[in-house]
Amino acid sequence: MLHVTEITNWAVDLIGVKKTYARKIQALRGVNIQVGRGEIFGLLGPNGAGKSTLVKIMMTLVHPDVAHGTVLGRPLGNRKKRAVMGFLPEQSQFPPYLTARQTLDYYGALAKVPAQKRRERSDSLLGRVGLEQWVDTRVSQYSKGMLRRLGLAQALINDPELIVLDEPTDGLDPIGRREVRALLTELRRAGKTVFINSHLLSEVEMVCDRVAILNQGLVARQGTLSELTEHTMEYRIATTVEASALREEVERLGGSLQDGHIVVSGRDAKVVNEIIDLLRSRDYSIESVEPRRFSLEDVFVEIIGDAAGSVGAPPVVARKA
Ligand SMILES: Nc1ncnc2c1ncn2[C@@H]1O[C@H](COP(=O)(O)OP(=O)(O)O)[C@@H](O)[C@H]1O
Ligand SMILES: [Mg+2]
Repeated sequence: MLHVTEITNWAVDLIGVKKTYARKIQALRGVNIQVGRGEIFGLLGPNGAGKSTLVKIMMTLVHPDVAHGTVLGRPLGNRKKRAVMGFLPEQSQFPPYLTARQTLDYYGALAKVPAQKRRERSDSLLGRVGLEQWVDTRVSQYSKGMLRRLGLAQALINDPELIVLDEPTDGLDPIGRREVRALLTELRRAGKTVFINSHLLSEVEMVCDRVAILNQGLVARQGTLSELTEHTMEYRIATTVEASALREEVERLGGSLQDGHIVVSGRDAKVVNEIIDLLRSRDYSIESVEPRRFSLEDVFVEIIGDAAGSVGAPPVVARKA
């Protein structure tokens, strides 16, 4: 049999990633994820879904039980590409006695960035994350939000091709969040690949090209935002006079009455047309027909369920054999 090494053009191509902690907590149960080069990819899921574990595996910081695939064309677990990857961990631990500038210099040196480049980049990066006034302040004086900003700058000090950010806007106020989004789109414009972990839907929705929804260690959905949301759609028909008198007939045709509107679930325009014919034949005038695309939140809630809330579902514990 001929074995052809699969040439993959994905920036990240993860196949069957499994990780169990302490022999019983199944954090990842066979995760497949593909991230295209130059895109912003969002890994979305409630707390405990396994997001941080997955990115730590990508960064070779956690050893998986089983995993195949590649990161920047190298087999998963190979450290060769670390030099062109940037990582913002869930919680950064910076030496408290260093200033922001010294911190970036230190991390830049670790990433083998030449001294001259480190100096240039750290000043421009600290500006880009809004810390220009605090470059010479010791990190021990920094607030949580400032530490997050410094973490972002640290993740970029080696001018990485692939940037992996674990909950990048954690601890930031709405303005800080917006600044981070602007920074991410700027990185995409520069051709970088960005991988973001987030439990915040709106963040991901506003900036990501593609998304995977992770739940209890498994990918429930993956695709572009429109792929994830197109299958669920409804039409809302508004009439100038409420059509509640036609309830039975509307329901027979496949619609329903909801807060004064006629709602047709799904994307069947035929049903919509039949209901319009019915309305017209009874002299109702139609004010509007609006297709409604479900938001990512609707899809998320459908998968995770309301019950999980922001706390997430309990971890999957392996049964004793
Ligand atoms: N070092 C660890 N030891 C034991 N269990 C862990 C460890 N890290 C994470 N877990 C567990 O693995 C599951 C996934 O955690 P994590 O990857 O941090 O999820 P997320 O980032 O989506 O919140 C959770 O049940 C968590 O408690
Ligand atoms: Mg996490």
